[in-house]
Amino acid sequence: MIRSKIAGIGKYVPENIMTNDDLKEYMDTSDEWIRERTGIQERRYAHRTGETTTTMAIEASKIAIERAGITAADIDFIVFATLSPDYYFPGCGVLLQREMKMKEIGALDVRNQCSGFVYALSIADQFIRTGTYKNILVIGSEKHSFGLDFSTRGRNVSVIFGDGAGAVVMQPTEKEKQGILSTHLHSDGESAEVLAMFNPGTHANHWNGGKVLADFKNAPIGEMFFSHEMVEKAQVFPNMDGPAVFKKAIVKFPEVINEALTKNGYKPSDLDMLIPHQANLRIAQFVQQQLGLRDDQVFNNIQKYGNTTAASIPIALCEAWEEGKIKEHDLVCLAAFGSGFTWGSVLLNW
Ligand SMILES: CC(C)(COP(=O)(O)OP(=O)(O)OC[C@H]1O[C@@H](n2cnc3c(N)ncnc32)[C@H](O)[C@@H]1OP(=O)(O)O)[C@@H](O)C(=O)NCCC(=O)NCCS
Repeated sequence: MIRSKIAGIGKYVPENIMTNDDLKEYMDTSDEWIRERTGIQERRYAHRTGETTTTMAIEASKIAIERAGITAADIDFIVFATLSPDYYFPGCGVLLQREMKMKEIGALDVRNQCSGFVYALSIADQFIRTGTYKNILVIGSEKHSFGLDFSTRGRNVSVIFGDGAGAVVMQPTEKEKQGILSTHLHSDGESAEVLAMFNPGTHANHWNGGKVLADFKNAPIGEMFFSHEMVEKAQVFPNMDGPAVFKKAIVKFPEVINEALTKNGYKPSDLDMLIPHQANLRIAQFVQQQLGLRDDQVFNNIQKYGNTTAASIPIALCEAWEEGKIKEHDLVCLAAFGSGFTWGSVLLNW
């Protein structure tokens, strides 16, 4: 039976460290508040002009490709997950394909925010299982620091997010106890506006319970998508109802992890490692407690990097593996929850 395995993994985080105290220069916040509510101590911010979502992805990809023992020319498909693309369109996949001088292979961009990497991995898994591709590059990368409201108005969102990238090369395997066992994807659009960035977009106030975001009726035709009004009203930043996200996350994380375990005849105590999307340390700790997992069964690094959305799982997975916390044949679960809402899990043998 053909399964897909992670043949190589890499991560890249920018050099520039932004501590909680550094953020006080821009907004009314404190190290104590951020640590207590989120567990975050510092995060990385990409170089203002020298680094983009795609360039960080390239750095992570180079490492993953080298560790897989192949070259960029061997990659036959790209799946790129991000919510902070270099361009509105085209997506980052084609920029990476061009810059890494890859062949004219398919490049797919995934827009599933914090669940982006889990969704991307699931797509790659299907293509490998069916024998369509042999070396798929799956990436999660984000440059949040360019699109946050750094005034006190935006502090509930801005303090959480950081920049970085992670990548894996997926290959087929027929070995026992190796590769992805199953993937599980879910969504609930009822809460789409609870964690969202509305503009620029084509919504024209159609959704969001009639909440008026901008005067689209009277706007000149050239200002329907992106207008001065949106900028003046600071409507070009992410919006989040933090407590609502928290409440749903602590239900859906355990649910989707248990779904993966049950499907494969396992229980939480069988897990060697859980890599939860690094949304908030308190969420991860709650999930750990719900599942009755020991500290050594869960890996968290949000303290150093903040929430890097689509990049958080591959960065954490890479770091856990580099630190020797994941070994061959280990039972590993990746689980994510985020904007949409969308959530999902991947259960695999390393
Ligand atoms: C965002 C989050 C940390 C906020 O923590 P919370 O305990 O829910 O706090 P609240 O939003 O209720 O705000 C409490 C107070 O802190 C204030 N506050 C918000 N952000 C702040 C900051 N960065 N610094 C200081 N004070 C802040 C609020 O203004 C509010 O003040 P008030 O009581 O005077 O109105 C928390 O809700 C959370 O982590 N939610 C999940 C978010 C998440 O995981 N998002 C990613 C999804 S993938």
